[in-house]
This record gives sequence, structure tokens and C-alpha cells, in this order.
Amino acid sequence: MPTDDRTPWLHLLPDHPLHFDDRFLWGVASSAFQAEGGAVPNDWVAAARDGRVPANPGNGFWERAEEDFGLVTSLGFRHYRLSVEWSRVEPAPGRFDAAALDRYRAICDAAHAAGLTPWVNLFHFTHPLWFAERGGFLDRNNHGAFLRYVEHVGRALAPHARHFHVQNESLAYVFGAYLLGVNPPFIASRDAALAMTRHVLALHADGYGILKSIDPDLTVATIEVYLDLRPEDPADAGQCAAVNHLDAWYHGALLEALASGWVRLAGRAPEEIPHLKGALDLYGFNYYSAIRVGPNGVGSFAERADAPVDVMGRHLFPGGMESGLLRVAAALPGVPILVTENGCPTMDETFRIRYIAAHLAALERAQRQGVDVRGYFHWTAVDNYEWQQGFSQARFGLIGFDPSTGARELKASATWMRRVIAAGRLAPADIP
Ligand code: FCB
Repeated sequence: MPTDDRTPWLHLLPDHPLHFDDRFLWGVASSAFQAEGGAVPNDWVAAARDGRVPANPGNGFWERAEEDFGLVTSLGFRHYRLSVEWSRVEPAPGRFDAAALDRYRAICDAAHAAGLTPWVNLFHFTHPLWFAERGGFLDRNNHGAFLRYVEHVGRALAPHARHFHVQNESLAYVFGAYLLGVNPPFIASRDAALAMTRHVLALHADGYGILKSIDPDLTVATIEVYLDLRPEDPADAGQCAAVNHLDAWYHGALLEALASGWVRLAGRAPEEIPHLKGALDLYGFNYYSAIRVGPNGVGSFAERADAPVDVMGRHLFPGGMESGLLRVAAALPGVPILVTENGCPTMDETFRIRYIAAHLAALERAQRQGVDVRGYFHWTAVDNYEWQQGFSQARFGLIGFDPSTGARELKASATWMRRVIAAGRLAPADIP
């Protein structure tokens, strides 16, 4: 989608100045494995050795976190979402690596020193190989090992970080790894996906309880990605039924479980996980684009034929962010929402700037309708490994880097964001 034609963007961009007050949290989001990469003993590295996913040399964050924090602070951001790579911290069952934990402590301290609040997530799609080989979360007997890790890392980091997440996008993880079977452990089974759904929800509740027992003043937030599912042909009853079915699982069961503690999954007896009810201080809301369900499975939903499309073939549809925020707010009254990820894969900085502007406009529409959205975390700071795409043109960063030297370079979107954050205002005239 060439950005020299502005027409397809016009109805997506803000038509009035947006205002963000001093309390609005501006942050960036990242994950350990995507940024750090390296030869860590996890399931993605093993899958890369088998040629099933791209290899990940990392973007150098493990060594350069301090430098990255300086850059991110200079842009005006005050929050940095990162994660802990479990396989670094516990490379063999029960053997915790003190040096790795020390590095994560130092990373959290460096964030604070730079003026950034770290938000630490404990599971972002990768398992230590030993845990994956035992069957991962799918085997309930393994849950204790994950919770032991949560407790160990929670205790180690709580003096250095006050904001935690147990998991990132638990249902997207189940979707990709257990229903579609495209991510490790590459299982495509409806039964496994349903069992996993129950398990990740229970593990979130357990992890929440553990972190709160370490310190009740810690903030513990969920993170889920909103999919905004749509039929390819709204007149096709079968497609509509498929959308409803998928949505009832993906959003319906999740939101009901968080609100009530009841996990209701098609074809399975309802199960109550009492401590799941209200086990969140904030709802972390990720959003990228809407999903079309058609005769050939799932793909990207295009509202109009000329909808701008990114390098991963995803069409812009910021309306899904607005409706998703409204839906979550209605399902979880009183729970504040934080946009914990939003961004786009592109090599074109005008595209990225417009994408961000269009989604900030959607966020502001939701706010004006009463949704308590506390902030916006951009995915991501420095270009990183994008799972199936590896290091390719699917670059989500505000900051680029030279793969041979690791040197960082601010992109045009970074300096544009700096102006927006500093002004607390985004006017239509500010958008290229
Ligand atoms: C999200 C993932 C994150 C990143 C972005 C682009 O769904 O949480 O790891 O890959 O997509």
C-alpha cells in the first residue's frame, strides 16, 4: 500500500485534536526472547535447529538494555514492558541461574535509573526445553514447576519492579501453538486447545495469587490480544456460526472467566476456578487488526478494498480497537484497561506514523465513550524477532539497529512520537 496516496487513510485518521493528560501512561512493549535471542535452551531455539521456525540472533537487548532505556526515555516514554526468559533463569529443572537473575535485576534497576517503570512479564510464548519436553502446560503435573518459577522470580524481582504479568496473550498462545499448530509444540487439536484454555486461565489465577502473596501492593495485569473476528461473507450463515463459535471461546470464555471465575468451554463441563474471579488489577489489551473467517479458514479482515495493508498482509482496522475496548470495559466493570501492545510491521515510516495515529484516535473514541484506558504501550522499541517472520521486513520498532554492529538508530516514527508525547496532543495536521 503506497503511502503517497492518502485517500485510503482519510477515514481512519483523527479528524480533531486528541489530548492525553499527564496521567496517561506512554510505554513501549517487548519480550525477552524476541529482543534477547541467542542460544538459550528453549523450545523456539530447538524448533529453529529443526528448521521449523526462523533462527533468532536477537537485537542485542541483553547486552544493551541500558542504552535502549536511554533512547526510549529520550522519546518521552515512561514505561517499558519486558519479559523474563524462563530458560535463562531456570535452564534445568530446579536449577536457578543466579547470574541470569542478577542481570534481570540490573535491567529493572537500569529502567528505573533511566526514568522508566518496568512491567515484567513471566511467560511470553517460550518454554525451557526441559519443560517443553515434559509436555508443557498441557500436562497438569507440570503446573507446579511453572508456579515455582513464578514464585522464585517474583521474590527475586519484586524489590526491583512493581508491575507484573503472569503471561502474555495466553489465548493467542493456545490458538497458535495448540489449535493451529504453527508454533511450538506444533499441536493442532481442538481437545488440546480446550484443555490448554482451562490451564492457562488457572495458571494466571495461581500466578496472580503467588505474586500478590509476595507483596499485595504489586500491580498484576493480564495481557490478551483482541482479535475482532468477522465473517468474510456476512450473508453466509455457516461463516457467521464459525465466527460466533470462535469468538465465544476466544473472547467470551476469557472475559466470563475473569469476571466470574467460571470457565465455560463448548463440550466440556463448566469448571469454577474461584480465585480467577477478579484476578487482575488491570486488563492489558493488545490490538493489531481484525480477523476474517471464511471458507478457507482465517485471514486478515479488510473493511474496504483499499484498506491500507502492512507487510504481514494485515489490513488496518482501528475500529476493532475501539469496539474491543468497549467490550472489555462492559465485561469487566471497574477494571482499568491499559493498551499493552499496538504497532505494525512496516519498512515505511509514514505508514507507521499513520497507523499509530489511527489507533490513538480509536483509543480516544473509546475513552470518550467512558472506557477507562490508562495508557498506550507501543510494540515495540527496537526492531526484533517476529516469530514466524524472524528478522525480515516485518519491523515493528520505533528504533532500528545495524545487525553487524548492533548500533541503534531512531526512526522518523520515534521522533514523531516524541513530539506527540511532549505535547500531550495529536492534531490532524501533525500526521504526514
Ligand atoms: C503480539 C505478540 C508479540 C509480537 C506482536 C507483533 O501478538 O504478543 O510477541 O510478536 O504480536
